[in-house]
Amino acid sequence: MRISVSPDPAATGAAAAELVAAAARQRPALVLGVATGSSPRPLYRALADLVREGLDLSSAAAFALDEYIGLAPEHPESYHAVIAREVTAPLGLDRARVRVPAGSAADAPAAALAYERDIARAGGVDLQILGIGTNGHIGFNEPGSPSDSRTRVVDLAPQTVADNSRFFPDPSRPVPRQALTQGVGTILEAREIVLVATGAHKADAVARAVAGPIDAAVPASFLQRHPHVTLFLDEAAAAGLSPAAPAMGVSA
Ligand code: F6R
Repeated sequence: MRISVSPDPAATGAAAAELVAAAARQRPALVLGVATGSSPRPLYRALADLVREGLDLSSAAAFALDEYIGLAPEHPESYHAVIAREVTAPLGLDRARVRVPAGSAADAPAAALAYERDIARAGGVDLQILGIGTNGHIGFNEPGSPSDSRTRVVDLAPQTVADNSRFFPDPSRPVPRQALTQGVGTILEAREIVLVATGAHKADAVARAVAGPIDAAVPASFLQRHPHVTLFLDEAAAAGLSPAAPAMGVSA
C-alpha cells in the first residue's frame, strides 16, 4: 500500500484528484468506481476544477459502489441522486456511461447479478475510489463480509445507520437500513484502488485496515492483499499510523 498524507481534506482531495486525472489522461475510456459520502467530495471538487481547466472525462465510465434499498432514485439522498449531483454533472461524465445499483428494483438479487454483468461487460473497473466506514467497511461491506463476497443485498450495521443519520435529519424520512453493494471480491477486482479518509474519527479504522490483521472483522483490511492501492489521508486520519511502518511509502 502506498500512503499519502496531506494537511487537510482539501489537500487530500487535490492529491487524489491528480492520480485520477493522470489515469484519465493515459486512458480516456477509463472505467471508474465511485464512492459516495463525505470523504471523496474534496476529490470530486478538485477533479471538477481540473475538468474546468481542460481535463476531458466525457469518454470515461463510472460504476457506483452501492445504493440504499427503500429510497426512490429521486430522493435527494439516494446514491442515484448524489452521484448525478456530485459526480456525473461536475465531472462532465456521459450520463449513459454512469451506473448505480438498482436499489429500488423489485428483484434486488437479480439487479445485483445484472450489476456484476454490467461491470464485466465494461471490461472491469480500472480505478476504484473508496471511502472507509468508522467500523472498517468498504462499500457497504460491513464487518463479517467475506473477501470473496459479490454484489448483494446487505443489512447496514447499527454504527453505519448512526453515521449516516446526518444525511437524514427529517424524522419522517428514516435512515435506510439496507443497501445493494458491490462485494469485497467485486471491489478487489478493480485494477487500481484509491481510498480517501479524513478526520480523527477515521484514524482507528485506517490503522486497523493498514496495519491490523487481514480479517473480515475489518473488511478494509482485505485491501492489504491488493497490489495497487493508494491511501490518501489527512493528518487526523493518519494519526494512528506509525510513520516508520515498513513497506509503506509515507509522504508528508
Ligand atoms: C459510500 C460507501 C461507504 C462510505 C463510508 C464512509 O458509497 O460505500 O463505504 O465510503 O461509509 O462514508 P463518509 O465518507 O461519508 O464518512
